[in-house]
Amino acid sequence: MPIRDTLMKSFEEILYLSKADVEKLNVSVEEIIQAVENAFCEKAAGKVEMPPKPGIHPKRDAFIHAMPAFLGETKSAGLKWVSGFPENPRRGLPYVSGLIVLNDVETGFPVCVMDCTWVTAKRTGAATAVAAKYLANKYAEKVGILGCGVQGRSNLEALLAVCCSLNEVRAYDVDRGNLDRYVKEMTAKHGVRVVPAESPRQAVENCDIVVSAGPILKNPHPVIEASWFKNSGFACALDFDSYWKPEAMYSMNKFCTDDREQLEYYKTQGYFANVPKVYAELSEVVAGKKAGREQEEERIMSMNLGVAIEDIAAAKLIYEKAKKAHVGTQLQL
Ligand SMILES: NC(=O)c1ccc[n+]([C@@H]2O[C@H](COP(=O)([O-])OP(=O)(O)OC[C@H]3O[C@@H](n4cnc5c(N)ncnc54)[C@H](O)[C@@H]3O)[C@@H](O)[C@H]2O)c1
Repeated sequence: MPIRDTLMKSFEEILYLSKADVEKLNVSVEEIIQAVENAFCEKAAGKVEMPPKPGIHPKRDAFIHAMPAFLGETKSAGLKWVSGFPENPRRGLPYVSGLIVLNDVETGFPVCVMDCTWVTAKRTGAATAVAAKYLANKYAEKVGILGCGVQGRSNLEALLAVCCSLNEVRAYDVDRGNLDRYVKEMTAKHGVRVVPAESPRQAVENCDIVVSAGPILKNPHPVIEASWFKNSGFACALDFDSYWKPEAMYSMNKFCTDDREQLEYYKTQGYFANVPKVYAELSEVVAGKKAGREQEEERIMSMNLGVAIEDIAAAKLIYEKAKKAHVGTQLQL
C-alpha cells in the first residue's frame, strides 16, 4: 500500500472513550497531579498556547465553554467543550457535562473523543493540590470544604495525596443530605476525620486550607469574612468570588491565579468586579519564577479558574493508557 494510503488509514478512525472507559483505566490521583504540575511548568516556559475560554450562556449562571490548548513539550493538542448548569442537580443530573477532543499535532486530525467529567473533577483537584504544595503551610492539618459535590470529593482526594499532615476535614453544604453523604463516604474512603460544619464559618475558622466549591454566581452574595480565615492559611476558590468577600480576598498577603489572561477576560464578561491584584500565576510559582509560601504566617489565596492545559494534559495521559490497554471504541471519521 502506498505510504500516503497507509497514513490516511491511520487517521480514518478516532478512539471514543465513554465515562466508564475513562474510569476503568484507574489513572491515579498522583499521575494526574504530576501531569497538571508538568503542564504548569510548560506554561511557565512559554511552551503552551491557551487562549482565554470563550463561552455561551443559554441560561442565567449556566455556561458552555470552549477550552482549547496546545502543549508543545508533550505534543498535546485538543479542546474541552464543557457545560455547567446549576439547575441540573435538581433534575437528578450532574452539574458538569461535556467532551474532550484530542488532535494529532502533526496533521491536526482528531484522534480521540472522551467524556470530560472524570478529567474535569480530577484535574481541578490536582490543580488545588499543586497550588497547596507550594502555597499551603507544610504542616497543614485541617481542611475546610465548602460545597460537598464532585469537586468537594476530588479536591479532598488530591489534597490528601500531597498534604501528609491533614487529619481533619470540616465540611459544609447547604444541602444536609449531600453533606451527610459526603461525611459518610469520605470517612470510609480516606479514613480521615470528617466533621459536618453547621455554617460556612465553621468550615473556614481554624482551617489551614479552605476550598470553596459552591455555585459560581455572576452577581455573588459572598459570606466569608477576612476575620474567619486563619493567618498562615491557604484558600483555593473554585467558585470564583462567589463565596469570599472582597475584604477577605484583599486580606491575603499573596493572591494567585492559574491564568492572569483568563481572569482579565472574565472581568470583561462582568465577573470579578472587585478582586486584588494578582501576585503570581501558579505556573510562575511552580517554575520558581515567583516565591510560593515564604513565611508561616502568610495568608495566601489561589483563584483557580480552571484552565485547558490541565484538561488536555490529563486527557493525553488517558488516551495513551487507553490505547495501551485496548480500552474504548473505534469510530469511523
Ligand atoms: N475552577 C475550576 O477549575 C472548576 C472546575 C470545575 C468546577 N468548578 C466549580 O466548582 C463548583 C462545584 O462544582 P461541582 O461539580 O462539585 O458541583 P456539584 O453539583 O457536584 O456540587 C455542588 C455542591 O455544592 C452545594 N452547594 C450549593 N450552594 C452552596 C453554598 N452556598 N454553600 C455550600 N454548598 C453549596 C450543593 O448542594 C452541592 O452539594 C461549581 O461552581 C463549578 O462551576 C470549578
